[in-house]
Order: sequence, then structure tokens, then C-alpha cells
Amino acid sequence: MTTPAPDLPGSATASPSAAPRGTALRGNAPAGTATPRTTAPKTASTGTMPPETTTRLGVGLGWRSEIDTVVERQPGLDWVEVVAENICADHLPDSLTVLRERGVTVVPHGVGLGLGGADLPDPGRLARLADAALALGSPLVTEHLAFVRAGGLEAGHLLPVPRTRDSLRVIAENVRIAREQLPVPLALENTAAQLAWPDDEFSEGEFLAELVERTGVRLLIDVANLHTNRVNLGLDPAAELDRLPLEALAYVHVAGGRLVDGVWHDTHAHPVTEPVLEILAELCARTTPPGVLLERDANFPPPSELAGELDAIRRVLEGSTRR
Ligand SMILES: [Fe+2]
Repeated sequence: MTTPAPDLPGSATASPSAAPRGTALRGNAPAGTATPRTTAPKTASTGTMPPETTTRLGVGLGWRSEIDTVVERQPGLDWVEVVAENICADHLPDSLTVLRERGVTVVPHGVGLGLGGADLPDPGRLARLADAALALGSPLVTEHLAFVRAGGLEAGHLLPVPRTRDSLRVIAENVRIAREQLPVPLALENTAAQLAWPDDEFSEGEFLAELVERTGVRLLIDVANLHTNRVNLGLDPAAELDRLPLEALAYVHVAGGRLVDGVWHDTHAHPVTEPVLEILAELCARTTPPGVLLERDANFPPPSELAGELDAIRRVLEGSTRR
């Protein structure tokens, strides 16, 4: 709980303005050329939306302003992800424009939507995410299955959600609202936890599977977060992977961290460790991920070190044991 938000670069600082549950969202279709939603409409019988077509992404690196030219010059990079709250759709960083002109896919990754909370998704935050996707021509957007605020207070952290039936019902509604307001498919990321709520009724994998079943949302599986939960909570990554509907997988995150006093800190500021790559291999034994992305948010290493970590990811994807 005391660790700085590891997966929260540029932590959301905007004042919370989530609409209370039961309040109709205002229309917030972003200006500009609309990208048609690739999903089918809700089905009349279940109210759920089926998953979208998978986009093949390849191997990518998190774009951060501190390493913009490093990312630009990284050989063989297929795509990048940018923290949605760190860009303005009307004034994209030159580096992202260069990458887009080169045909590199850019995916906005939100950190502040808070779909795991009790409030309805904030229309302004959704509109900003939609604007980012349209400005970048992105095939999808991603966020976290996380609890980040309540009662006007920001946690400053991507906290795990209570995995209960009541929570699932609330979150599924939030996800459905978000999907309806976004112009492209949405994928949600599993969290790195340092606590577990009492009285969970589902494992993480089961909860995500239920959410996919109910809403058609896609999944962003962070294998470093699975490692974090293994160390901190005793979770079995292989068992959780077995429970996940991997056909809904949009892409995978890989990141580094470090152990402090027996607690794994998902820092994104340290090298990727072998146990994390082993979980990636476990995942690859079950499915071919459409994309894998290396996240690095601080303590940036030389470009060659980032290249080495990307190569290690590629070797796992190729099924090589040479790391
Ligand atoms: Fe992540």
C-alpha cells in the first residue's frame, strides 16, 4: 500500500467527477472523424456484447516522453503504448506523430478511469480516452480493472477490486458503459496487488473470465502483475492463466520490479526478471499473444538494455530457451 503507484505513470490528478450511479451519461461523442465501433450491438437476450476481432500488434515498448527518441530509434519495434492521461489529443507529441507516420501502432493506456469503483465512469475521462484513440488512429484502448477513488478521494494507486458477485455486477455495468462510449474496443488489465480484500468469492482469473463473459471486454494480461501477486499473495500464475479466457487476450505487459522485505514492488524501474519471463512463457504455451509490450516508467536504462529486454521477450515468443 505504501509503494508509489507502480503502474500509474503520470497518476491522474484531475478532480474526480464521476457521475453517481443511476445518472444518465451525457452524449460525449468526440469531435472529428468517427471511427466505427467494430463490435456488434448488444444482444437482446443477454445485454452483453461479444468480443471484437483481435488486432495483431507484435512486440512493443511503452512510449514515455523521457525516452521518446530512444523509442523512435528502437529497431524492430512493432507498436507503442502511451499513457492516455499524459497526452492531449489536440497536441500530440512530435515523436508519436513520427511513429504514426511510420506506420507504428499507438495504443492509449488509461490509468485513471477507475472502472473498479462504485461510481459510474466519468464522461469526461471517457471522452478524453476516446479522443486519444481517434487522434492516434488506435485499434483499441486499454485501462485497468482497478479501484482508484471513492467519495472524492484519490487512492493514487491502482488497487485491486473486491472480487465478489456484487462487485462484479457493478463493474460489469461500468464496463458496458465505457464500451458504449469508446469508439474502439476496450481491454482491461489485471492489477499488481499488495493486499487482498476479505471475502473474495472469485479468484482473479475467475473474476476476469466472468467479466469477459458478461461484457465482451478484452484482456490485457500483465505477467509482471501475476508475478507480483504470486510473491505478495501466494497466487499461482499458471492456475490463474488456466482460468482466463485467453481467446479474449488483446495483449500482454512485461515489466521489471524488485523485492523489498519480502514484498514484490512492481516498480517498472528495474530490469525484467526471469520469473516474469517464465510466466510469459507459460502464457505462450497456452496461446499466441497478439502483442507483448515492455513497460518502463523510471530509472531508464541505456537503449541497449531496453533492446536486450525486448530481445528476451522475442525469444520467449519464439519458444527459445536462449535468454
Ligand atoms: Fe502493466
